[in-house]
Amino acid sequence: MAVIGPSARRIAERAAALARIGAVGEGVTRLGLTPEERRAHALVARWLAELGGRVRRDEAGNVFARVGGGGSPVLIGSHLDSVPEGGRYDGALGVVVAVEALEALRAAKVVLRRPVEVVGWADEEGVRFGLGLYGSSAAFGRLPAQAAERTDARGVSIREALRALGLRGDPARARIRKGSLRAYIEPHIEQGPRLARQGRALAVVTTIVGIAHGRVTVRGRQDHAGTTPMSERRDALAAAADLIAAIARAAAARRDAVATVGEIAVRPGAKNVVPGECAFSLDVRAPRERDVAAVLRAVRVAAAALDRERGVRTSLGRMDRVPVTALDRSLRGLLRRACAAAGVDAPELVSGAGHDAMNAQLDGVPAGMIFIRSRGGSHSPREAADPRDAARAAAALAEALRELCG
Ligand code: GLV
Ligand code: MN
Ligand code: MN
Repeated sequence: MAVIGPSARRIAERAAALARIGAVGEGVTRLGLTPEERRAHALVARWLAELGGRVRRDEAGNVFARVGGGGSPVLIGSHLDSVPEGGRYDGALGVVVAVEALEALRAAKVVLRRPVEVVGWADEEGVRFGLGLYGSSAAFGRLPAQAAERTDARGVSIREALRALGLRGDPARARIRKGSLRAYIEPHIEQGPRLARQGRALAVVTTIVGIAHGRVTVRGRQDHAGTTPMSERRDALAAAADLIAAIARAAAARRDAVATVGEIAVRPGAKNVVPGECAFSLDVRAPRERDVAAVLRAVRVAAAALDRERGVRTSLGRMDRVPVTALDRSLRGLLRRACAAAGVDAPELVSGAGHDAMNAQLDGVPAGMIFIRSRGGSHSPREAADPRDAARAAAALAEALRELCG
């Protein structure tokens, strides 16, 4: 039997309150380690303090609040940053649902023998510093070397951004002691159409795709746009355009693989100058490691051919990798039972989006995820979720917590 009825109205109000922080038109721009993200963390911290949570902020900029007894906690939550001009639910709704699960447990007077800790992760999207899953990477000991020195487009480093937020500037200090968490459970919108098509409100995630992301730089030669014959050009942007088309073909040739170039910069960037340099982002994902590797290999082969044909030099910079991550099998079973107790027959789904749950699982913390039906895709202001579905997710999460911590 489900714990009690979480409040869809309160969920809608809280999601709306978060969406006002960094609002742009119908969407949200709340990048990681900015004052906007900080304000979102502070708002969530206030809700949690009102629920009796003991709030703390770690040295990576993540916010936590703990309730309940002693021992190793079950961590629940998601991230509070967004992509530029993103939706209001990616990440934020998961945190609101986690808070609502605590509300539900309190209303049902469930005694928590084991603690529950809610987390709002920092900079999951990795837009500003190019480092996805940043906050959870710090907490689970998975930051790449020299992470604090990575800079944003203005040359501000993570270290400096943390200091501007009143922290010491060393995200590695956020490491959670290994073995100190019982489990991690993340509610999150589905971000794709599958649940809506199946007419189901919730799903339980089995596996999260592997991700490789980094930057590609094409160096050509800057020249006059009017006087340089076409046969003598080393146009970095024209070569990049061919390479980007080859990247799309390489991913399309492998089932379930995807590759995206979402950001591009051209130097010097003037209509009457043949581009001398072009740098772009590359994001490759697939549910099988071998397909991620195959797409990257195809990109290198295409780049080498273009270098010869167009007289440019292409380099694939350091690629950050997150391996394909299967979530914890017994939590999957528990979450499906909890969804059933909340009145939802939840199918199992693979996630094409990356999630902080990957870092927990990869650090040996049993991790599970509940997906909430959403519409309008994701990473866009069209993102939409029904607060009643979110309330069902909160009921399922509360049920799972009662089993794990009650
Ligand atoms: C985050 O949303 C990601 O999948 O990149
Ligand atoms: Mn997300
Ligand atoms: Mn996202």
